[in-house]
Amino acid sequence: MSRSSLRPLRIVGNWKMNHGTQATEAFFSTLGTLISSTQPETAALLSSVRQGTLQAAVAPSFVVLSDALRASHSHAAHLGVTLLSQNVNAEKSGAFTGEVSVSQLKEIGITETLIGHSERRQLFGETDAILSKKLHSALSQGMKVLFCVGETLAERQEGQTREVLRRQLRSALAPTEEALKSLQVTLSQATLTLALSIAYEPVWAIGTGVVAKPEQAAEAHTWIRAELSEILGGTVANRISLLYGGSVTPENLSGLLTASPDIDGALVGGASLKPESFAALLTTAATHLLR
Ligand code: PGA
Repeated sequence: MSRSSLRPLRIVGNWKMNHGTQATEAFFSTLGTLISSTQPETAALLSSVRQGTLQAAVAPSFVVLSDALRASHSHAAHLGVTLLSQNVNAEKSGAFTGEVSVSQLKEIGITETLIGHSERRQLFGETDAILSKKLHSALSQGMKVLFCVGETLAERQEGQTREVLRRQLRSALAPTEEALKSLQVTLSQATLTLALSIAYEPVWAIGTGVVAKPEQAAEAHTWIRAELSEILGGTVANRISLLYGGSVTPENLSGLLTASPDIDGALVGGASLKPESFAALLTTAATHLLR
């Protein structure tokens, strides 16, 4: 069975701490115009979106999530853009100044979140244990999760990439009995199948302009799929979208998607900020689906 029949191709923009209300409105307004013309490429793209084989998504800052939902509905409803939060707290409510809960996000219409981005891990001290708790908490409250993993340059140079990915995935998805007890949840395979995507983002490729070579990305995605199969079983593992992230552009996306049937799209920072470039990423993905 081909990859695309099992899993949608996803292009997810990670805006990080960029774009306020006005830029958000302008982004969706331009995007809606760019992808509503009658160009053949656009027609194929929109038909993939309608069939659910291509999915556009953006993760803006918390503060503009509502604006993004509104702007996307009014200017780009035909693209059905999914809006993700970039982070979420594991606790349900309470004295956690500066944090945001799953229920607060769901109340405004957000149903998916990033968890474990390397900037959260490296700059904000989020450990494997914290991220496992966040992942289980979000999924058990009915929130979808795009969970990020990836090795640092030093880890790659020391030949530890596979080990690091294994550790990050195992600690997130197969926490110890003790951790599970404190979480008080066990997730069903069905929940994981429907609600989990993974992004492989080598830390050395994020924001550096140094994209992983297609064969490096392919190798890591094969390892991740194999690891997921061991943890969750092959049926579930085959339904989880694995995205590559790190210096993806409209120019290099095609090479990455072609490199392996295990690469199901991209998590894109810098190149997702401009509507022209985000539209070009979607067009490339749609063209790839036609091959
Ligand atoms: P980049 O960021 O595309 O700017 O490298 C990717 C990410 O951090 O998700």
